[in-house]
Amino acid sequence: MTEKKQVPVITVDGPSGSGKGTVGQMLAQKLGWHFLDSGALYRITAFASQAQGIDMTDETQVAQVAKDLDIKFIPQKNAPPSVSLAGKEIGDALRTEEIAELASQVAVMPQVRAALLLKQQAFARLPGLVADGRDMGTNVFPAARLKIYLTANPEIRAQRRYKQLKEKGFDVNLARLLEEIQVRDARDQARTVAPLKPAVDAHILDSSGLDAQEVVQKVLDLLDSKTGSIK
Ligand code: DC
Repeated sequence: MTEKKQVPVITVDGPSGSGKGTVGQMLAQKLGWHFLDSGALYRITAFASQAQGIDMTDETQVAQVAKDLDIKFIPQKNAPPSVSLAGKEIGDALRTEEIAELASQVAVMPQVRAALLLKQQAFARLPGLVADGRDMGTNVFPAARLKIYLTANPEIRAQRRYKQLKEKGFDVNLARLLEEIQVRDARDQARTVAPLKPAVDAHILDSSGLDAQEVVQKVLDLLDSKTGSIK
C-alpha cells in the first residue's frame, strides 16, 4: 500500500462523460477534501510534449516531460481547478478533443504512467482526497476508503461532453464526439498497463438517468454506510 494510511481517499473512476469530474468536485467541496483530476496530468503531459515539439510516439521523451512537469492546480469555487504550467495559466487549452486524444495515446505508455504515479499519490493530504480518473481505485490508491466506478451509456456521455465543450465555446459535432469517445474508451480499456476497469471492491453506479447531485448523494450514503459520518 503506497498511499498514506491516515488520509481517507475516495476514488471515482470511469469513462469520459460518466460525470466523474463533476461528481468528484462536488464531493470534494461537500466534504472539504482535496481533489485530484488525474486526467489533467495526462492532458498536461500531452500538451507540454506537443508545445515542446517532441515526437509524441517516443515514450522516453514523453516520460521525461511527465517527470519534469512543473504544475499547480488552483482550486476554484464551483468550477474545475485552474492549471498552471511553469507558472503560466493554461486555461481551456487542455480541454480540447485534440489534447484528449493525445492524452489517451500517451496514457498507454508505461514510463509515462510510472512518472505520474508519485505525483498523483502526493495529492493525498488531510483531511482527505477525492481522486478522479481511470485507475485511481485499481492502481494509484488501492487502499482507498471508498471506490466508485461511474458509468453511463455512450450516447448520454457524448451529450454531456458536447454540452461541456459547447459551454466552453468549442465547435463540436455530436456524432463525431460519440465516435471519438468510443475510440478512446476502447483504447483506455484495452491497454496493458492500468486499464480502465472497476476495482474488484468498487461500487458500480450508472449515472445515465441521474443528475450529478443525485450521484453525489448516493456516494455520500455509501460513505456513511461504510464508515459512519466522517464529515
Ligand atoms: O479524464 P480525461 O478525459 O481528462 O482523461 C484524458 C485521458 O487520460 C484519458 O483518455 C485516459 C487518460 N487517463 C488515464 O489513463 N488514467 C487516469 N487516471 C486518468 C486519465
